[in-house]
Amino acid sequence: MVALGATLSAFWIVAANSWQQTPAGFHLMHGRAELTDFAAAVFNPSTPLRFLHAVLGSWVTAAVFVGSLSAYYLLHGRHREFARRSLRLALVFGLVSLAAEVVVGDAHTRQAARTQPEKFAAIEVLHHTQTGAPLAVVGQPLPEVLLPKLLSFMTYFDFNARVTGLDAFAPEDRPPVTATAMSFHAMLWLGLGLGVVLALGVFLWWRGRLFVSRRYLKVLLYCLPIPFVVNEVGWFTAEVGRQPWAVYHLLRTEDAFSRTVPAAHVAVSLLMFVVIYIGLLGLTLHLVRKQVLQGPGGAEDVQS
Ligand code: HEM
Repeated sequence: MVALGATLSAFWIVAANSWQQTPAGFHLMHGRAELTDFAAAVFNPSTPLRFLHAVLGSWVTAAVFVGSLSAYYLLHGRHREFARRSLRLALVFGLVSLAAEVVVGDAHTRQAARTQPEKFAAIEVLHHTQTGAPLAVVGQPLPEVLLPKLLSFMTYFDFNARVTGLDAFAPEDRPPVTATAMSFHAMLWLGLGLGVVLALGVFLWWRGRLFVSRRYLKVLLYCLPIPFVVNEVGWFTAEVGRQPWAVYHLLRTEDAFSRTVPAAHVAVSLLMFVVIYIGLLGLTLHLVRKQVLQGPGGAEDVQS
């Protein structure tokens, strides 16, 4: 029930965010967006892929979290049977979820090319509109490594397709390129890196070496924070890449402020949110650490 509740609330959060990215189901009346079609607004063009991508991202995070804690127990010779079972489950579930995440991420990138071409051009660091566009392996300010014609192919399945670059948009309508490109490529390469670690785990399991390879178990343990970072840079890509719009092509961020609430009040409530969330983070880390040290309920703590 809790998982269903969490997934449903995640859906509404993602649908609301997606409406800002690809607004639909409204008409403009005296400068105000008025709802005309609830279903079209909720299921706007980017909601389905964004929801699937966000949910799969949370599954990858859960799998790596369980895998890392299982590695911790095996490295410390504690709860071995429990840790073996949960590590096997985490590797398989993690690898399948990540493979699906990459496929959905790829479709999500093509969807951005269709619905938010400015964001796509920034993500791919494509300054000039061209046919046979190259794929940038990493984002600026890192040195440019380009794979010829691959962006055209990955976006339109045609090596000579025309891809719109940043030069097609007025400078004031372009997202911050470095921040958008760096966050996208960090998500991409950290995500693929996690895939390599999980696949290596499955390979070691097949070779019967998984539970005794201390080096691999240490690598898996140190991977614990990575999916959290990947999800954050993913949201960075989505939000920074949507700039300068609060609602894409409807409301600029510089205009999206209240005419009645003083800036000081906004600053104070933001500060309060930051303090409350840091407190909640501290409490969560404390409770998780306590639970991990205590061990899984009922599982015998066999020292090898
Ligand atoms: C490796 C291949 C991946 C690709 C090609 C990819 C592609 C994308 C793209 C294009 C966006 C921005 C979408 C938009 O703003 O319209 C995005 C956002 C996001 N990504 Fe990824 N991603 C990948 C891997 C991952 C992984 C492994 C995770 C998590 C473990 C992840 C989590 C997220 C999240 C949470 C967002 C923000 C929500 C959204 O807009 O979908 N991504 N991703």
